[in-house]
Amino acid sequence: MRVLGIETSCDETGVAVYDTARGLLADALHTQAGVHEAYGGVVPELASRDHVRRILPLIANVLARAGLDLRDIDAVAYTEGPGLAGALLVGASVANALGFSLGKPVIGIHHLEGHLLSPLLADRAPSFPFVALLVSGGHTQLFEVEGVGRYRLLGDTLDDAAGEAFDKTAKLLGLPYPGGPALAVLAERGRPGAIALPRPMLDSGDLDFSFSGLKTAVALRARAGRSDGNPLALSDAVKADIAYAFQEAVVDVLVAKALAALAATERSTLVVAGGVGANRRLRERLAIELERRDAQLHFPELRYCTDNGAMIALAGALRLAEASTGYAFSVRPRWELRTLAAA
Ligand code: KG4
Ligand code: ZN
Repeated sequence: MRVLGIETSCDETGVAVYDTARGLLADALHTQAGVHEAYGGVVPELASRDHVRRILPLIANVLARAGLDLRDIDAVAYTEGPGLAGALLVGASVANALGFSLGKPVIGIHHLEGHLLSPLLADRAPSFPFVALLVSGGHTQLFEVEGVGRYRLLGDTLDDAAGEAFDKTAKLLGLPYPGGPALAVLAERGRPGAIALPRPMLDSGDLDFSFSGLKTAVALRARAGRSDGNPLALSDAVKADIAYAFQEAVVDVLVAKALAALAATERSTLVVAGGVGANRRLRERLAIELERRDAQLHFPELRYCTDNGAMIALAGALRLAEASTGYAFSVRPRWELRTLAAA
């Protein structure tokens, strides 16, 4: 079965074709970083308009590279949410129009499920069950994953997500949007021990996270470094020290909680997914710690850490393959009329 996957939840237009027998046939991504850079963040209306411009050429491109015609597609999967409403509507409209015209099933996918299953795109794919550390721009969560659709939330962030904290800290230091990757690059030049920052919730005894206090600590430290209180005017060397200290603090917490989740569930496989999963320091530290414990570590390839169409096509294929959740007609033998009014 060949599934066309469409991702338009935020500022990346992603399209891919996943074949259940042969794996990923082709995928393409258009990133809108250039569109939003001048504004320092995603402008929803501009994001929607850009998705409209890109989506059909991207679909044509992916099909051509896969050597397929639209009629060769067996199902269409799209990101149904969460995300920016206008941006989601572009993918939803195109996917449903395609499905309707081709007479093929259309399946809406939860964006985070796409991230969660993305490590299965790798040649060396993890097998269920595993613990997943989901670190995207809006979420920092730990799950116990027993199979497709069987996700148990173990821990969540009480405020900011790690990716969001990366982005806000980057903005504070005057780095260009999107800030997370730029902050990670700057951190490479920072000096260990130059600046001390807290490790929020490290010893909280649960698997939850909190990053807003760390973000505030960085802001205070950065302002204190200048008599005029302007963090943008700090020297590049001091900014690098702050970036280093911030990244170490986030990584320390993520690593500690991921290890605690493995211990609590008695699982020995950790899967990391989402944009912050592209962070080199996080990857290095987890690799060392898991090897020490003889546990398995799986990351998606770097390009499948951030938003992409491949993870949506894969999740669609897996969902359709699941007998219990597959695309099927359903009937509701007991269906009270009054429930319609509430819907
Ligand atoms: O998963 P994703 O592409 O989008 C969401 O679904 O939110 O994640 C984007 C997040 C952003 O906050 C971005 O700054 C962060 O991932 N990110 C990174 C790195 N690459 C992307 N954070 C730290 N280090 C990186 N190398
Ligand atoms: Zn995402």
